[in-house]
Amino acid sequence: MNQRKKVRKAVIPVAGMGTRFLPASKAIPKEMLTIVDRPTIQYIVEEVVASGIEEIIFVTSEGKAAIENHFDYDFQLDALLKKKNKTKLVEELRHISNLIDIVSVRQKKPLGLGHAILTTKNVVGNEPFLVLLGDDLVQSKVPCCLQMINLFQELPESYVAVQRVSSDQTHQYGIVEGDEIQDRVFKVGRMIEKPAPGTTESDMAIIGRYLLQPDIFDLLEKTTPGHGGEIQLTDALQALAMRRAMYAYEFEGTRYDAGDKLGYLKAIVAFALQHPELKDEFRVHIMEVADSFKKPAKKSK
Ligand code: G1P
Repeated sequence: MNQRKKVRKAVIPVAGMGTRFLPASKAIPKEMLTIVDRPTIQYIVEEVVASGIEEIIFVTSEGKAAIENHFDYDFQLDALLKKKNKTKLVEELRHISNLIDIVSVRQKKPLGLGHAILTTKNVVGNEPFLVLLGDDLVQSKVPCCLQMINLFQELPESYVAVQRVSSDQTHQYGIVEGDEIQDRVFKVGRMIEKPAPGTTESDMAIIGRYLLQPDIFDLLEKTTPGHGGEIQLTDALQALAMRRAMYAYEFEGTRYDAGDKLGYLKAIVAFALQHPELKDEFRVHIMEVADSFKKPAKKSK
């Protein structure tokens, strides 16, 4: 049953309204907000490319054309920059449009993450695939997706990436309960989408990286609305875990929730501190800012 197949495709849902980021996301897709010098979605696409994937499937909605345009080749801009001898920029923009093959499918109704994934059924076909959520940026030595693909080569089942969270945060995530079978790998027992406080002992929260066997699609078709009245991927994954083995993987690296205002700021600082041209001066600036908070406040007269 478990055919060991190459993971070739990645699904990236970008149809969400981005209400957590209003008003910034009113006219611009939240995925196009910048972290240092590139939109958040580019970091996600670069992780996919660095993991050896051949094709990306964006799940889009109205108003998200800027994302497709970002990865497209802009003939006029290319010609203009060439005329102005802006060679480095020309190369950089060509690099972005040559990164990987991208196709888009439309999610016609905002019925939830599970429904968004289901819209890609025919494009993904009968093969394992990755899902990456655009809000979650991961900094790691080995790209998070590649870590999961490496596990999949050993044991070709379905995986969710998890991180530990404090008990007052579990209600914001899909939570996994399971038993550790090897270092960082847990066999999933139960999964609950955004559990009410006190209803689970587990601190393992799903972050936006999944490697799924295609039988998830049949289960998504049968999934009824769950938390928030939406078709939840977590509910279909729970059904998958009942049918065949499924695993949670505590990835190596740091995840930033760039869909949240504070998480977004933390991501900017973390990525700026890694940026080859900016990191040194930025580090000095950050230390100065930190120092200025340590100085005792002046007494008022
Ligand atoms: C989604 C998933 C949830 C997961 C989270 C990670 O929720 O439904 O299981 O823990 O992403 O970011 P959302 O944040 O879209 O509400």
